[in-house]
Amino acid sequence: MELAINLAEHTSRIYIEREARLHLADYLNLNCKVMIITDKGVPEQYHREILEQCENGYLYVAEQGEGTKSLAVYERIVERLLKLDFSRKDLIIALGGGVIGDLSGFAAGTFKRGMRFASVPTTTLSQIDSSIGGKAAVNMGEVKNVIGTFYHPEAVIIDLDTLKTLPKRHYHNGLVEAVKAGLIADKELFELFEKAENVDEHLEEIITRALKVKKAVVEEDEKEQHLRKILNFGHTIGHAIESLYHLKNYYHGECVGIGMMKILDNKEIKERLRKVLLKLEAPLEAAYDADEVVMFIKKDKKANGNYVTIVQVEEVGKAELIPIEIESLRGNKL
Ligand SMILES: NC(=O)c1ccc[n+]([C@@H]2O[C@H](COP(=O)([O-])OP(=O)(O)OC[C@H]3O[C@@H](n4cnc5c(N)ncnc54)[C@H](O)[C@@H]3O)[C@@H](O)[C@H]2O)c1
Ligand SMILES: [Zn+2]
Repeated sequence: MELAINLAEHTSRIYIEREARLHLADYLNLNCKVMIITDKGVPEQYHREILEQCENGYLYVAEQGEGTKSLAVYERIVERLLKLDFSRKDLIIALGGGVIGDLSGFAAGTFKRGMRFASVPTTTLSQIDSSIGGKAAVNMGEVKNVIGTFYHPEAVIIDLDTLKTLPKRHYHNGLVEAVKAGLIADKELFELFEKAENVDEHLEEIITRALKVKKAVVEEDEKEQHLRKILNFGHTIGHAIESLYHLKNYYHGECVGIGMMKILDNKEIKERLRKVLLKLEAPLEAAYDADEVVMFIKKDKKANGNYVTIVQVEEVGKAELIPIEIESLRGNKL
């Protein structure tokens, strides 16, 4: 299965094939220096299998977790690339989840003003969502994604077999982004989650449909001027909770699930979402301080003074962008 994301100055190719990691040269030119960036939680087997295919392959293994999306780790990677005399024609491969994808994309996009970049995402979250769209960033302390750029990979190679080793909670976490994609733009995708007895059996369809939603939106609005904001459904409150919990108590997708439950006005859709999240063993609630959440949203890069644009779903598969006063969330939604 192959998809192309056609952007103003660039095309990203997406391949969804089982065992694709074992023959990367079918998708990528590996005749250059290749730096594989991964983390300690990604099974070693995967980087070994990829290194074997590279004549000039190198490896950077970061610590696991959100803390790796930092300027300090970024600097170490750049130092390593300089020492090994990497040029813009050489390649970074991100091998891992969204943390590794965001960090590697930022390194590739800024090293010598942009070098070759490809991604082999190994979590549901990165296969469904974060590896496409070009957002690449690191955090500053607990402020997420504050230093970043848009940089698109030339290829995203999605090997569903890598998910076999992913812990269940992470596996479910990423699927919440596909539930979101269904709610905002693909009714059948949302219904698939409702009807499926065993979601795993539909994984390829779920990932493909969610990627198609993101492709359509990103092609229309590459730099998030307007339409792309619909992808932020559930993220205004979700992102605040994720950051306030010091980026560790809840995973990104789990926070998006909680955020969608909080923001949804439509009671019937909310009930349907509740059932789907329960099926995915995702949390429906988190304890938080409403004042802190409001303060956080006001400081967020997506806010505009006292206003923020939220996404509302009144009919499954259709999203609306609505500017609201941030204070109005208090009591009403929080
Ligand atoms: N750029 C974007 O558009 C975008 C979108 C959504 C989220 N994100 C970012 O993505 C990050 C979250 O990504 P994530 O949920 O993939 O988390 P993650 O990258 O931290 O990966 C989760 C954990 O799973 C381990 N792991 C990865 N692949 C594995 C595998 N195949 N088998 C076993 N273990 C494996 C990792 O070591 C890690 O500990 C956040 O930083 C978030 O901000 C970015
Ligand atoms: Zn998200």
